[in-house]
Amino acid sequence: LKLYSISLLSGYFLFFKFSDQVLSITPQTQEQVDTLRNVSTHYEVVLWQPVSNEYISTQVQVHLYVPGNTSSHISFQVNHLCLHVYFRVLLANPNVLTEMQMKNDSTDPRSGSTFYERYHTLEEIYDWINRTAQDNPRTVKAILIGSSYEKRPLYVLKVKPNRKAMWIDCGIHAREWISPAFCLWFVHHSLSFYQQNSEITRILDSMDVYVLPVMNPDGYKYTWTIKRRWWRKNRSISKSGFCVGVDLNRNFDVDWGIKGSSQNPCEEINCGPFPESEPEAQAVANFLRRHKDTVQLYITIHSYSQMFIFPYSYTFDQAENHNDLLEMVQEAAQRIKRYYRNTYTYGPGAATLYPCSGGSDDWAYKLGIKYSFTFELQDRGEYGFLLPPSHISGACNEALLAVKTIAVKVLEKT
Ligand code: ARG
Ligand code: ZN
Repeated sequence: LKLYSISLLSGYFLFFKFSDQVLSITPQTQEQVDTLRNVSTHYEVVLWQPVSNEYISTQVQVHLYVPGNTSSHISFQVNHLCLHVYFRVLLANPNVLTEMQMKNDSTDPRSGSTFYERYHTLEEIYDWINRTAQDNPRTVKAILIGSSYEKRPLYVLKVKPNRKAMWIDCGIHAREWISPAFCLWFVHHSLSFYQQNSEITRILDSMDVYVLPVMNPDGYKYTWTIKRRWWRKNRSISKSGFCVGVDLNRNFDVDWGIKGSSQNPCEEINCGPFPESEPEAQAVANFLRRHKDTVQLYITIHSYSQMFIFPYSYTFDQAENHNDLLEMVQEAAQRIKRYYRNTYTYGPGAATLYPCSGGSDDWAYKLGIKYSFTFELQDRGEYGFLLPPSHISGACNEALLAVKTIAVKVLEKT
């Protein structure tokens, strides 16, 4: 496919030498697949999508972060690949975008953005948790459910007391910054629009809402440090001491360690030494086990790709209430299309995304939480993990509409 011009190509060569880039490459042959798999294992190159190179295959769109100073044999391979296959420069200047995400212009009175339209450091999020609980003593409670590997507290916010409940966790994967931003957005919206917006009022009047804004604080903090923006896992040190990090969304006790996960601690999708080996996963699992009689709805927030996923991911079998789950995400996607003109795909995880065991959604489902979802928020790869602050409100409002749509439907069914 010759969809690029020579000048574009030479521009690419030039550019590539000096600055970092995110490329989108869709391999057409097995040889190209192999090259991409090989390139992506190079320590400086970061695979944005798919999550692990085992999922790279022909016709799969691969998003690759390539730093400007990559060693010449790697850039040669990438250049060579780009000569023979259709590729696109997804982001010509990720550094500028990274700075934009980290810039805290709260000190600048001219910036029109609110607190909720910026990304926040872990410290700022902890501050916000305390303040939110203090300022709303009757409606909000901060519950300590455990601590991370590096001993940071895991706080869950409980909004309003009731007999039914729902749970939302954010930030299970460190680099997906829009996820914690959504949890803050969601709590803020719930508190501000209670008794104004009919759906949120109905939800809060009949359900406890538990929100864990940052499930992986160590990883999140790490992504705010220089050159570590692409970190995904937690920060636990493996027994061999060789590599760091377990993918918390592979660490749950559901067909653990079988599909789409790796026992190798150096891999992005490392499932850890045993199920619930990680304090973060264990804290969430313990809390949900204790509250499984009230919690009817489980939602976990990720990015990116604009998808609503429901069980199962660990098997291609159909969930017992498959049709209910499908109807819920379908309605959420339709409403988003109508209000925001944006497309979300949806379906059971294994068939829609990829087969994968040890995920929190499947685990919660098997615990008895019959309405269990993974949301993948904006975007579809235009900015990927570098979604600019100006897109936070759009991304969060869409996800909010989906949460409300699904929660109201759950209330009708239970
Ligand atoms: N992007 C998420 C992940 O790879 C999707 C999770 C979907 N659910 C699942 N159980 N795999 O962790
Ligand atoms: Zn994720």
